[in-house]
Amino acid sequence: MDVHVADHPLIAHKLTYLRDKRTDSPTFRRLAEELVTLLAYEATREVRTEPFDIETPVAPTTGIKLANPKPIIVPILRAGLGMLDGMVKLLPSAEVGFLGMIRNEETLEVSTYANRLPDDLTGRQVFILDPMLATGGTLVMAVDYLTAKGASDITIVCLLAAPEGLAHLESELASTDIPVKVVVGTVDERLNEKGYIVPGLGDAGDRLYGVL
Ligand code: URA
Repeated sequence: MDVHVADHPLIAHKLTYLRDKRTDSPTFRRLAEELVTLLAYEATREVRTEPFDIETPVAPTTGIKLANPKPIIVPILRAGLGMLDGMVKLLPSAEVGFLGMIRNEETLEVSTYANRLPDDLTGRQVFILDPMLATGGTLVMAVDYLTAKGASDITIVCLLAAPEGLAHLESELASTDIPVKVVVGTVDERLNEKGYIVPGLGDAGDRLYGVL
């Protein structure tokens, strides 16, 4: 598993305001979208392309365009939805699928409650969106689910990660034979006893959409 931690002052600046408990939901949503667009630049570094012949007003030339089949973006509901607009800004021709996963706050067990994805993802590049890589349980399940459908390469985009979650993901995916990359805004100190990232930003879904 390849991990890329963004090291950029603009990302650190936006993350600081995102973490601040005084930041209201509309501002939180705007910052999350802006952050994803910055992270997406790195996450899409190896997006598949093919040559494309064009003519400029001056001369014929060969450029590139996104190859078919187009990548598929999969936000993990609910908090991953807050990252979707930022990602499709950079990849407007990508398809979007949805995966609904929830973790039991007591046992931290993850279960799938919804999915809207093509049955066959053979050969597809997949971008998973989940703001918080905490225990890593949700992402292990999501990667297993998508590889079972044939995904051929997976990039996970997160705003924050805990070292424990990254280690868990790394060990669970050690035997996966497709490339998995994680692009994350920053890696925080640790998880607390409730599975929250410290210092983190609280419950990302609640901060985006209100407390359920
Ligand atoms: N999910 C969240 O929304 N926040 C955390 O800190 C951990 C998991």
